[in-house]
Amino acid sequence: MRTPIVAANWKMYKTAREAEAFCREFLPQRSRARGVELVLLPPFTALEAVARALEGSEVALGAQNLFWEEEGAYTGEISPRMLGAAGCSYVVIGHSERRRLFGETDEHVHRKVAAALGHALLPIVCVGETLEEREAGRTEEVVVRQVKAAFHGLAADEVARCVVAYEPVWAIGTGRNATGEDANQICGLIRRTLAGLYGEGAASAVRLQYGGSVKPENAAEFARQPEIDGALVGGASLEPGKFIAIAEAFVP
Ligand code: PGA
Repeated sequence: MRTPIVAANWKMYKTAREAEAFCREFLPQRSRARGVELVLLPPFTALEAVARALEGSEVALGAQNLFWEEEGAYTGEISPRMLGAAGCSYVVIGHSERRRLFGETDEHVHRKVAAALGHALLPIVCVGETLEEREAGRTEEVVVRQVKAAFHGLAADEVARCVVAYEPVWAIGTGRNATGEDANQICGLIRRTLAGLYGEGAASAVRLQYGGSVKPENAAEFARQPEIDGALVGGASLEPGKFIAIAEAFVP
């Protein structure tokens, strides 16, 4: 049985103070999502404050990006070692906003995944097609390419620890979510692709999230799909009540 995992991708929202206020309101409600692993992904500047607020809570902390080098002359970048020291156990890699706005390629994603695993950080690897790719009938080809590139050359036991978030780009922040069935079908494809490359054992351990306009009203539709093990939530994760309501839908 895979433990469901629901993560709050705050993107470029919330100062450290605002993040602390979120935790104060959110933590007393945590028990509503018993059996679901919860992850908060604040901006870098709020990591330390959230790490302190989450102490002893069994809510995990993660970052939204990293650079693959350990240290060096890389102005503006943050290393896996720094994230570990700040209390992170997860890191989002290859979010479509990073790919689209900051030029991240499949090769960058791959190097980041390897670096994260090398520093005991668990990657949440984002894949998904754009509207243009979907309309051209290329969804499956794009997702398979992104999955293969991200995990290329890794050992099965490393892949098994990862989370993959299927986030169709056209569904992110648009209010237009994929249907549960469509998302389940692509998650099934991701799992079969991983099984072909790393074996059934690794593929059945990988947790697959759906992301893209997930909200309390539609979370149950994704939660009941057999291939979907959780959600990566943007907009709706900024409010404690909405985030916990989404997580509650995934209670096993
Ligand atoms: P959204 O974002 O929930 O606001 O659509 C999801 C994401 O980008 O991870």
